[in-house]
Amino acid sequence: MRLTLKTALVAATALGLAAFAGVKVAEAAGGGDSKYKKKVEWGFNGFTGKFDRHAMQRGYQVYQEVCSSCHQLKFMSFRHLGDKGGPFYDKKYPNPIDNPVVKYIAKNYPVPIQDIDWDTGEDLPRDGKPVDKFPSPYPNDVAAAAANFGKAPPDLSVMAKARPDGANHIYSFLLGYDKDDNMFNKFLGTKVAMPDQLFDGKVEYEVIKVQNKDGSVKEIQPPEATREQMAKDVTEFLMWTADPKMEARKSLGLSVMIYLLILAGLLFFAYKEVWRNVKH
Ligand code: HEC
Repeated sequence: MRLTLKTALVAATALGLAAFAGVKVAEAAGGGDSKYKKKVEWGFNGFTGKFDRHAMQRGYQVYQEVCSSCHQLKFMSFRHLGDKGGPFYDKKYPNPIDNPVVKYIAKNYPVPIQDIDWDTGEDLPRDGKPVDKFPSPYPNDVAAAAANFGKAPPDLSVMAKARPDGANHIYSFLLGYDKDDNMFNKFLGTKVAMPDQLFDGKVEYEVIKVQNKDGSVKEIQPPEATREQMAKDVTEFLMWTADPKMEARKSLGLSVMIYLLILAGLLFFAYKEVWRNVKH
């Protein structure tokens, strides 16, 4: 019996380690051969990793002001921005449809929502609402490709998961352009249909206003909008769109691990107690 228990424990540990090592190997293999790959210490990595809310807000600003003219976020609706764990979550508005920041963003989004006129069937562009999906800047893929050197800009909702080591991939890609050729991406090692987008000061970061408990408003000065800072922030945002429930998942995972540990301890003592007087 003791042997079986020991063997089971050893096997479980080995399995766990193997799974962990597997993840590490897979990570290392992901596009890591390019010498232009940049690695960032992301706060969302690791067991207890969390998104940086202010970075996500700035990242959203970069996405809206720079990327949304070509790329769509088709798996996202505006209301998701105000979900728990999202960049504009506000506990005063548990239902993000009521969140004024989300409403404002939807209404002022640079790409109009294409609705149809229910009387005539004709196109009817209108302002966005929190329940709308992020619209595509192009009517279809052919138009998208025609406007971009023959390549339709890919959807960015899950890009951070679609590419191996996605966050570092996107970050390195955005900063990987050749100085003398704004269509050549050294990180991907090829000419691309997306011209270099970011240069220092392209976006003017907004001051973030936070309401204190006593009702007064604290202003948080944003960092300088350098190329690197914008690339980092938009990557943080895109990592969230690709895995919006990451924080909830990680915290549940941690609770389960703690629960299992306690259970394992209890089972061990129960086993000792039950077999105490039995020769074996
Ligand atoms: C002028 C249009 C345009 C803008 C603006 C633009 N992109 Fe792109 N993007 C493209 C096109 C076109 C492609 C496809 C490139 C290719 O495959 O050659 C692309 C590809 C990508 C890819 C995939 C790279 C890969 O690994 O294959 C990422 C990631 C990306 N864009 C992110 C962004 C981000 C983030 C922004 C905003 C900072 C942005 N793009 C702004 C047109 C654009």
